[in-house]
Amino acid sequence: MNLVPGQHQRVLSGMRPTGRLHLGHYHGVLQNWVRLQHEYECFFFVADWHALTTHYEDPSVIGNSVWDMVIDWLAVGVNPGSAKLFIQSQVPEHAELHLLLSMMTPISWLERVPTYKDQQEALKEKDLATYGFLGYPLLQSADILAYKAGQVPVGEDQVAHVELTREVARRFNHLYGREQGFEQKAEISAKKMGKKNAKLYKELRRKYQEQGDHEALGTARALLESQANITLGDRERLFGYLEGGGKIILPEPQALLTESPKMPGLDGQKMSKSYGNTIPLREDPEVIEKALRTMPTDPARVRLTDPGDPGKCPVWQLHEVYSDDDVRSWVQEGCKSAGIGCLDCKQPVIDAILKELAPIRERAQEFEENPKLVRSIIAEGNEAARDVAGDTLEEVREAMGLSYR
Ligand code: TRP
Ligand code: SF4
Repeated sequence: MNLVPGQHQRVLSGMRPTGRLHLGHYHGVLQNWVRLQHEYECFFFVADWHALTTHYEDPSVIGNSVWDMVIDWLAVGVNPGSAKLFIQSQVPEHAELHLLLSMMTPISWLERVPTYKDQQEALKEKDLATYGFLGYPLLQSADILAYKAGQVPVGEDQVAHVELTREVARRFNHLYGREQGFEQKAEISAKKMGKKNAKLYKELRRKYQEQGDHEALGTARALLESQANITLGDRERLFGYLEGGGKIILPEPQALLTESPKMPGLDGQKMSKSYGNTIPLREDPEVIEKALRTMPTDPARVRLTDPGDPGKCPVWQLHEVYSDDDVRSWVQEGCKSAGIGCLDCKQPVIDAILKELAPIRERAQEFEENPKLVRSIIAEGNEAARDVAGDTLEEVREAMGLSYR
């Protein structure tokens, strides 16, 4: 099932506070956020509860990373005027929705999410046979559904979690989307499309429901999408009625794959804290320069007179990110003919990285010196988030029969 067309395109994403952010985060995720904030209503949050699922034995790193992470976001240009920034644990609606969804989510759905076994395998030193860790993707579903987010920017490893979210939403709508008198209301909504269209809609619905005719389903959806004269509420109801379920309370989100070049680390592997090959965003320039000067190159270039092959050198991968064609051909030629030394070759990359990070470091410093401002940005974001998530939870409680008045 797709989004209800016309549904407001809200974007939501989170990041776990488990250490300093580095260039890999900047090129992979944050530049994407900065772009999205101009196009959509964005909610970005610190996923501290998610961090706790793997760091419950020593949670101090979480508390220590939260504000640094927010400062890094602000420093790279995430703008609190455009995007709402908040902390997951400050919006208890996430926990409530997680709990309510847990009632109807089969355990097997969670056990078969690939990250469940993969991460247990990868983090063998930790005991991740916990209830909380099994529920990790469902907590993520709650994060997403609490905002009825249409798009969720994530990396490839997280696509399965968005997929689970879609299944959970579908099941929720199926179980609880029946308002009283739903059928009659749907019939009335259908009439608003005009006699001819209403008849066609009903016929297509019958074909789908009685004969499982998927083509009819597609045609009916297209018919609904083309209706300009019915309200969003009517449309949602008719989409729900079409598939036999009820109203769509929790719309299904879509993963927005972060398609960025993989930022290579100091050793040529993908930059990642677990490989120990990162360049932190707020590192001292001298430390960065030293790390780059000592990073490995093509092992064939023992002496200056030994020719090398950029294809076998992690420095070349950095040139692919940072250098223009002129510099790149200078590298190719100079390396293969032993015409340049590796330190010469690294210099343009060193310059480019330091130049990229200088304004980030400067802005970060301004925020570091003004913790009150950072706190108030988050306080505002928390409040805006609670407003939206609170509305959703009211609907959810009502649908589940939990609103006692
Ligand atoms: N699990 C995500 C990660 O490890 C972080 C996250 C938590 C998230 N909740 C989310 C991402 C909701 C997108 C939407 O990167
Ligand atoms: Fe790598 Fe450049 Fe040295 Fe060639 S000259 S091995 S590309 S650092």
